[in-house]
Amino acid sequence: MRKAIILTVFLFAVFLLSRCSEPAEINETVKNEMRSAAKGFMTELKGVLVANMKNGGPVKAITVCSDTAQELTKNYAGKVKLNLRRVSLKARNPKDTPDDFEREFLLKFDEMKIQNKLSDKTEIFKIDEIDGKKVIRYMKPIITKAVCLNCHGDDNHVKPEVQKLLKEKYPHDTARNYKEGDVRGAISIIKYVTQVNR
Ligand code: HEC
Repeated sequence: MRKAIILTVFLFAVFLLSRCSEPAEINETVKNEMRSAAKGFMTELKGVLVANMKNGGPVKAITVCSDTAQELTKNYAGKVKLNLRRVSLKARNPKDTPDDFEREFLLKFDEMKIQNKLSDKTEIFKIDEIDGKKVIRYMKPIITKAVCLNCHGDDNHVKPEVQKLLKEKYPHDTARNYKEGDVRGAISIIKYVTQVNR
């Protein structure tokens, strides 16, 4: 009986140790996986935006965007098997509100922009823990371009009919008054290291 207890304790200790030493390493393979997911996602999303802007201007594009942006994001995340979304300090869709980690780095990106240190290559990788699970997190800034001002700029750039539609669809919209070059938000990707199926 005592032997059995000792054996159980021993096995449990081995189990714990093996879990603790689980590698959460940010190697080139992981980096490239997350980078290419971000890139592919942005290309797909931009494709939808550009096509609809061409088709019927910002009003048409908002109608499509508001219906498909979240869905497209969810589908893309499922396809690449990563937790992926867009976040912003001034979100239009409340679902894009950042968590503490994301907020910290969005503020950092804003600071880098002020110091002229932001570039196309800016990105962050970090090991973190969510609900006791080890994760690798990736964030890349999304920069405001001229075309974005149609829907995220000030009153001089956002047409009255567009403002009206935005108010209807997003009564709590704060994603306005951006200027070209501003950090509009970021892509945020989370990869679970200890739990594969997510
Ligand atoms: C036709 C109008 C329109 C244009 C042009 C537009 N957006 Fe948006 N944007 C939206 C709408 C609508 C949402 C909210 C989508 C949703 O419900 O998920 C949004 C959401 C976002 C978000 C997610 C964070 C948030 O505020 O909810 C980011 C980031 C973003 N846009 C960046 C851009 C960038 C960068 C450009 C230019 C390349 C751009 N947008 C151009 C309408 C537009």
